[in-house]
Parts: sequence; C-alpha cells; structure tokens
Amino acid sequence: MERKAFLKQCGKLCLGGLLAGELLQSCTGTYFAVGSFEQNQLVLNKSEFVISANGKNKFRKYVLLRHEKLPYPIYVYRLNDNTYSALYMECSHNSCELTPHGDFLICPCHGSEFSNVGRVLNPPAENDLRSFKINHDNEKIYIQL
Ligand code: FES
Repeated sequence: MERKAFLKQCGKLCLGGLLAGELLQSCTGTYFAVGSFEQNQLVLNKSEFVISANGKNKFRKYVLLRHEKLPYPIYVYRLNDNTYSALYMECSHNSCELTPHGDFLICPCHGSEFSNVGRVLNPPAENDLRSFKINHDNEKIYIQL
C-alpha cells in the first residue's frame, strides 16, 4: 500500500472510531429521577444513581431532577461516593435550557459549555452556573433550594 493511501485509511479509521464513541455515549440516555420536596429542599435517593446488572452495581454519572416548582431541571452529578454537585440547567448567557452530555453541559442556543461543577468551559457564557448547596447521608441527597 502506498504511503498516501495508508495515511488516508488511517484517518478514516480514526474518524470512524471517534464517531462510534460519540454515538455510544449518546445512547446511554438521560435518566430523570424523582425527588420529593421537603422543607425547602429537594430530596433524592442515592439509589437513583445505581444501575444493577448481573448482580453487580454500576453508577450513573448524573441524574436529572425535575420539580414543578422549578422551570428548569437540576443536573445532579456524582463525583464519587461522598461528593455530588447540583446545577441549575439554565444557561447563564441567555437562559436556554442546557443539554447534559456526560461530564459536561452544552447550551443548544449559542454553544456555551459548562463543567460538571458548573464552571464555564466555552463562551459566550461568562458566568458559572447556579449551583445548589448539598448535604447527604448514607441514603439520601438533600439539595437546598
Ligand atoms: S443562551 Fe446559552 S450560550 Fe447563549
């Protein structure tokens, strides 16, 4: 095989691999959890993050929480067993609802990106996302509104 044809084929394989990875990531789906509203806080069971399969537990990276009192959902991200973030999914640029994309959030309106702790990664947004204070015990996460 000639060098040019070889490089062209390698490029196609790399591109195919990247696209397949993106497709698989987008197929994992977004999970909406059900929380309860108690004393000005949203309460979420930690079990909402658990995926049981073949007797083994895996964990979702994040769940979305909707509540009738809030026009936008909350993105609750599991950083580890004892650390979570809770972000309001309203873009700080011009109030569009953000779309979760694994470890980060993307704005469909003008393309701003935010990290899983709400920091701006890409403009035009200049301000971080609104985040909520969280407490938790062994079973539940308490999101202060
Ligand atoms: S509203 Fe989100 S980037 Fe403009």
